[in-house]
This record gives sequence, C-alpha cells and structure tokens, in this order.
Amino acid sequence: MAIDRFGRAIHYIRISVTDHCNLRCVYCMPEKMTFRPTEEMMSFDEIVTLTRLLTSLGFDKIRLTGGEPTVHPQIVEIVGAIAGMPGVNSVSLTTNGVLLNKLAEPLAKAGLQRVNISLDTLNPLEYRRITRRGRFEQVWAGILAAESAGLKPVKLNAVIVRNFNESSLVDLSRLTYEHPWQVRFIEMMPFGGATALQLDQVVKANEMRQVIQAALGPLELVNQGELDGEAQIYRLPGSQGQLGFIASVSVPFCASCSRARLTADGHLRLCLLRDKEVDLLTPLRAGASPAQLRQLILDGIWQKPWGHGLADGEYATDRIMSEIGG
Ligand code: GTP
Ligand code: 5AD
Ligand code: SF4
Repeated sequence: MAIDRFGRAIHYIRISVTDHCNLRCVYCMPEKMTFRPTEEMMSFDEIVTLTRLLTSLGFDKIRLTGGEPTVHPQIVEIVGAIAGMPGVNSVSLTTNGVLLNKLAEPLAKAGLQRVNISLDTLNPLEYRRITRRGRFEQVWAGILAAESAGLKPVKLNAVIVRNFNESSLVDLSRLTYEHPWQVRFIEMMPFGGATALQLDQVVKANEMRQVIQAALGPLELVNQGELDGEAQIYRLPGSQGQLGFIASVSVPFCASCSRARLTADGHLRLCLLRDKEVDLLTPLRAGASPAQLRQLILDGIWQKPWGHGLADGEYATDRIMSEIGG
C-alpha cells in the first residue's frame, strides 16, 4: 500500500486517458482550446503498463477521466484491460455523457461498474451556454442508457457557478424525487488563467443548501455527516435519490484524501491543485524496469503535498482541469 508522509493511505487513482474533449465548459477550458499532440500522450499499452504497476502497489479504486474519456477510440478496451487486473476493486468513469447513449452497454460489458456524469442544468439553452457546444437531449439519453446498462448508482455532477446556473440547484434536486440518482453539487474551483471565472463566482455548499431548502423544504442528513468520497450526503424527504455537496473550496477534504492522478501524458500528479508531479512516461519510454518505476511511484506518493489553498486564492498554475481529469 502506498502511504504518504502524513500517514494517508493512497489507493484511489484517477487516470486521465486523454486531454481531448468534445465540449468546452466555461469553468474548465477556454473556447479556443489547443490540445496536446498524440505522441505526448500515453498509448494504450502505456496506460495498461502504468495501471498494472499502480494496482500492484495497492491502488484498488480506478476512475477513468479525461478530458473526456469516451472520446478515446479504445476506451472500451482500456476498461476491459483494467477490470481484469488482479487487485482492482472498482472501475468507474467520469464523463460528460455526450457519447454514453452508444457506449454505456459496451462499457458495462467490458467491466465498468459506475459512471459519474456531468450535468450542470436541465435547461437546453443554458446547457449550450455552459458547455459551448453540447446538446442536453444527448446527455439525457446517455444518463438513461447508463442506468439501463446497470452502471449504478448513477451520480450526476453539477458545478454551480454564480450568475450562470444557480437555478439548477432546485431543478436538479427535484430529479431525486423520481430517480434513484445521486445529484452532486460541486463548488466551482476557480483556476486562474484558464477561464474568466473568479473566486466571487463560487457558490458555497452552505448557500446551495439554503437555496434548495427555501424552495423544497428541509434536507435530511444521511450518514451522520460522514463523507461519501468527497461528498456530504443529504436527501429530500420522500425522494428516491440523494443530494451530495462537494465543498472543495469552503470545506477542503484534504485530511482524508486517498487520491493520486495519472495525467494523460503519464505524470503522477499528487494533488489536483498543486503543481507537484512525477514523470513516469519518460522513464518508461527510456526502458526503466518495473522495480524502478514502482520506486518512483512510492517516492512520489511519500511526497504528496498536504492540500490546497484555494480559499486563500492559491491555485495551481501549470495545467487546466481537462489535463488533470477533475
Ligand atoms: P466517487 O467515487 O463516485 O465518489 O467519485 P468522485 O467524486 O471521486 O469522482 P468525480 O470525478 O465525480 O469527482 C467529482 C468532483 O470532485 C470533481 O469534478 C472535482 O470537482 C472534485 N474533486 C475530485 N477529486 C478532487 C480532489 O482531489 N481535490 C479536490 N479539491 N476536488 C476534487
Ligand atoms: N471546478 C470544479 N469542478 C470542475 N470540473 C471541471 N472544471 C471544474 C472546476 N473549475 C468537473 C466537471 C466534472 C469533472 C470531471 O470535473 O464538472 O464533474
Ligand atoms: Fe470537457 Fe469535462 Fe472540461 Fe466540460 S468539464 S470541457 S466536459 S473536460
């Protein structure tokens, strides 16, 4: 098991299989986005090799991310290869859902267990304004396809941005009356240069709950406030689903962090919001042995930074969200 110097057991790896995306969400990337050249990215074999090394070190929770992981031409094969590795407990995927209608079934057959789908609004025009090129109906079909393929529980991720989609708080919460989904509201993390959005457009989880309660009545706390992943879980009385709040900015969950990331260009990124990384791809391509690569991973994890300083306006500057995988 990989342990850091603060005693945290790190066993959840988020693997970004591509930095490419078929959307351009306002809180994630600029409208005119240039992606990295393919030869800088991990190949299928390199993804498999590095993932196998990570699982041999005790990483048992694997989440595939992007960019948008479903635009990778071999995403189904990647899932299949990882799901079959010894030591893997769960394989899940974070997606914008645009291609899920077609892919949910083959992904589930390949061994995918769950999907988290980004959906910031139920209003098709607002959806287009936020994602700059997506179609709401396509994602909705993708969500239903994921559910019928058995990728459950379906979790929906909504990043809330002031002056953009605050009305989604009530609209999306209402979905849980009818559907056994977990709708999770995420505090936007302002990323300096990448987007025009700023700290004053962050809507904090407390304010989100107030807005929902004012419209729909009191929320019940589930799990005595224990986190589910990073989310605080509540429910509306009588509903089938749950509401989660991911308060990355106002209540950082760094003390219980169990995560590391593998970027699409093969760097082990130790914290979402700190620049510290260990390049694994260059040594792999130069012929490093599995033992050498394992040592690089263990040394990197040992040095994992404590956490972030978003609330004080500190943020990482080297990469944007789509290159890290959220
Ligand atoms: P579950 O296994 O379903 O709990 O998934 P998850 O919440 O780990 O994955 P998901 O990709 O759905 O992440 C949801 C959101 O949490 C991301 O979009 C980020 O906004 C936020 N997030 C994920 N990892 C981190 C992290 O390490 N630090 C911070 N601050 N936020 C994170
Ligand atoms: N703040 C919070 N979450 C973000 N995501 C992308 N950019 C940001 C941001 N600036 C989320 C997406 C998706 C995940 C991959 O990352 O909504 O759920
Ligand atoms: Fe693409 Fe996800 Fe970024 Fe939106 S948030 S542009 S869907 S990577």
